[in-house]
Amino acid sequence: MTNALTVRNASATDAAAVAAVHVAAWQIAYRGLVPDGYLDAMRPEERAARYTFGSTGASLPQTMAAVDDRGLRGFATVGRARDEADGVGELLALYVEPRSWRMGIGRLLIRHAHARLRALGFEEAVLWLLVGNEPAARFYEAEGWQPDGTRRQEEIWGVNVDVIRYRRVLARPMDAPAIDDVVTAWPRSSSRAPPRATSSTSPAPAADSGVRV
Ligand SMILES: CC(C)(COP(=O)(O)OP(=O)(O)OC[C@H]1O[C@@H](n2cnc3c(N)ncnc32)[C@H](O)[C@@H]1OP(=O)(O)O)[C@@H](O)C(=O)NCCC(=O)NCCS
Repeated sequence: MTNALTVRNASATDAAAVAAVHVAAWQIAYRGLVPDGYLDAMRPEERAARYTFGSTGASLPQTMAAVDDRGLRGFATVGRARDEADGVGELLALYVEPRSWRMGIGRLLIRHAHARLRALGFEEAVLWLLVGNEPAARFYEAEGWQPDGTRRQEEIWGVNVDVIRYRRVLARPMDAPAIDDVVTAWPRSSSRAPPRATSSTSPAPAADSGVRV
C-alpha cells in the first residue's frame, strides 16, 4: 500500500465524498461560530445535490480533490471573484476532513489552488473567512494571505455569518514554484500522514466543478 496523496480535479462521482468532508469540517470548525442547531441539522446529501460538479464553462468554479487510498481527504474550490474587478480570483472553499488536520493536506491543496488561479489568469485573489475562525486565519497567514480590512455579513448555505476578506497577490508564473515543487514539499513523516504525495492536477482542467463556501 503506497498511501500516496494525489490532487486531481473533482468530478460528479466525488460529490458525496466532498459533501461528507464539507459537513464534518463545518460541524467541528464552525462550532461556536454558527448556531448548534444549524450544524447538527446539516446533511451531506443536501450539500451534494447543490454542487455543480461536471458542468462546463470557463467562468464556473473549479474544485480540486486531495485523495489517497483511504478516500477523499480534502478539497479546494477556486473561481472568478464574486464581487471584484476582472483579474481577481477567489478561493471559494477549502476543507480538510477533521481527522486529517495538521498533516499538510491543506497546504498542499492551497498551493494547487494558487497555481490553478494563476493558470486561469488571475494576478490576485480574495477569500472570505468566518470571523473567529482563528486556526484557519493562522493557516492562511502562513500561506501569504492578509486581511484587507473588509468585513460584512453574508448568507452562506442559508445561515447568516460575519466574514472578513483576505487577499493575496499571486506570483507570476515565472516566480511561482512548479506543481511538482509543491508536491515534493510534503511536510510530514508522522505515522498518521501519508508518506509521500503525488499530483495529477493538470494546468488545463478537464471539467469545471464548483462548491460554494
Ligand atoms: C484550515 C484547514 C484547511 C487547514 O488544513 P490543514 O491540512 O489542517 O493544514 P496544514 O496541516 O497544511 O497546515 C499548514 C500550516 O498552516 C498553519 N496551521 C494550520 N492549522 C493551524 C492551526 N489549527 N493553528 C495554527 N496554525 C495552523 C500552520 O502554520 C501549519 O504548518 P505546521 O503544521 O507545519 O505548523 C483545515 O484546518 C480545515 O479544513 N479547517 C476547517 C475548515 C476551514 O476553516 N476552512 C477555511 C474556510 S475559509
